[in-house]
Amino acid sequence: MTEQPLSLVVLVSGSGSNLQAIIEAIDAGLPARIEVVISNRPQALALTRAASRNIPTRVIDHRECTSRDEFDARLDSLLSELDPQLVVLAGFMRILGDPLVRRWHGRMLNIHPSLLPDYRGLQTHRRVLEAGEQWHGCSVHYVTAELDGGPVIARARLEVHGNDDEASLKSRVHDCEHVLYPTVIDWIARGRLTLADDTPMLDNKPLRQALTFEAPQLMEAAS
Ligand code: GAR
Repeated sequence: MTEQPLSLVVLVSGSGSNLQAIIEAIDAGLPARIEVVISNRPQALALTRAASRNIPTRVIDHRECTSRDEFDARLDSLLSELDPQLVVLAGFMRILGDPLVRRWHGRMLNIHPSLLPDYRGLQTHRRVLEAGEQWHGCSVHYVTAELDGGPVIARARLEVHGNDDEASLKSRVHDCEHVLYPTVIDWIARGRLTLADDTPMLDNKPLRQALTFEAPQLMEAAS
């Protein structure tokens, strides 16, 4: 029996390199289908990436909304109409309000460029460098109303080098994101990962702590 691919809606704001990685993972066998890409920015390069693969796109321009609530209501209504099995935030730079996030509880993922719970929020690469951290990375987590605070599923960890600057760190974190995010989506698509109450369950076992992959091994396994 052929399984139905997992239906995804991907939310973006910017360049969309994570979207591209998901598209390529689907090409390579990830059992999912991107129904629509939604951006809050009309100029997002991610929209061009989607359109070039004939993936339908929609824009809800946050600047045309008079309030956060109005933006959320429009997004929620579009998501309800599309009714995907999973909403994937891929560089989506809007904070979503409580009611919307609650409605999509357990069906909404985010990727964040830090080793959560450390360095929530913006400018993570710069803040990690300024603090002189030895380790940096990225995390995939279920979205809850707490900003970058939902249950973390998996992380990729890389060592900060003495000669790293913001650009090099960002690029190395991106490389990890492009492997980690499709990996987690694949677990969901194959029914291996669910959220029970607020605990991710992988292969029927609770993930009390995020799975942490070392970047070199993660990249090696993906190559
Ligand atoms: C990624 O690094 C992602 O982790 C980050 O934005 C970048 C988007 O890149 N997301 C956040 O900071 C969300 N808090 P992309 O548009 O090339 O995928």
